[in-house]
Amino acid sequence: MNHPVLEREALHTVRLTLNGRTRSGQTRPRLLLSDFLRHELGATGTHVGCEHGVCGACTVRIDGVAARACLTLAVQVDGRQVDTVENPGGNDAVLDALKAAFKRHHALQCGFCTAGILMSSADWLQRQRANGQVPDEAAVRDMLSGHLCRCTGYTPIVNAVMEVARA
Ligand code: FES
Ligand code: FES
Repeated sequence: MNHPVLEREALHTVRLTLNGRTRSGQTRPRLLLSDFLRHELGATGTHVGCEHGVCGACTVRIDGVAARACLTLAVQVDGRQVDTVENPGGNDAVLDALKAAFKRHHALQCGFCTAGILMSSADWLQRQRANGQVPDEAAVRDMLSGHLCRCTGYTPIVNAVMEVARA
């Protein structure tokens, strides 16, 4: 596949579908998707922790698949679909169920890493369901191992994800 060579200091227009709405913004090639979402498009639900792919706080879904926004350049999502925790259309049943379960189980805690955990969990649970699998607690904990929660209260988070997995 041929990719265009982007001028380092030039502003490029990125057009994407963000949470079901067509959006566009200007960016230099080096800007991270996490910063583009927060500062150019005002989608501040996506949080930034480590900025090198370890903590998982910045996880969004790109074309339906969970991805680290801090390991993705904004120009890479041109023409693609990006979903964040805001999900203003309310058209993601699994994500909505997870948000409600997190409230019931007091799994939000300080909320800093919650957006990323919700986005990973929604993607993962949808794939589990598509494969006809109901994950057990060990599988949920394995999935969550991609996220570092500084509040450390993993048990309510596991319980919330388990509730949706078994629904
Ligand atoms: S901010 Fe992206 S993984 Fe930590
Ligand atoms: S909920 Fe506070 S860092 Fe995870």
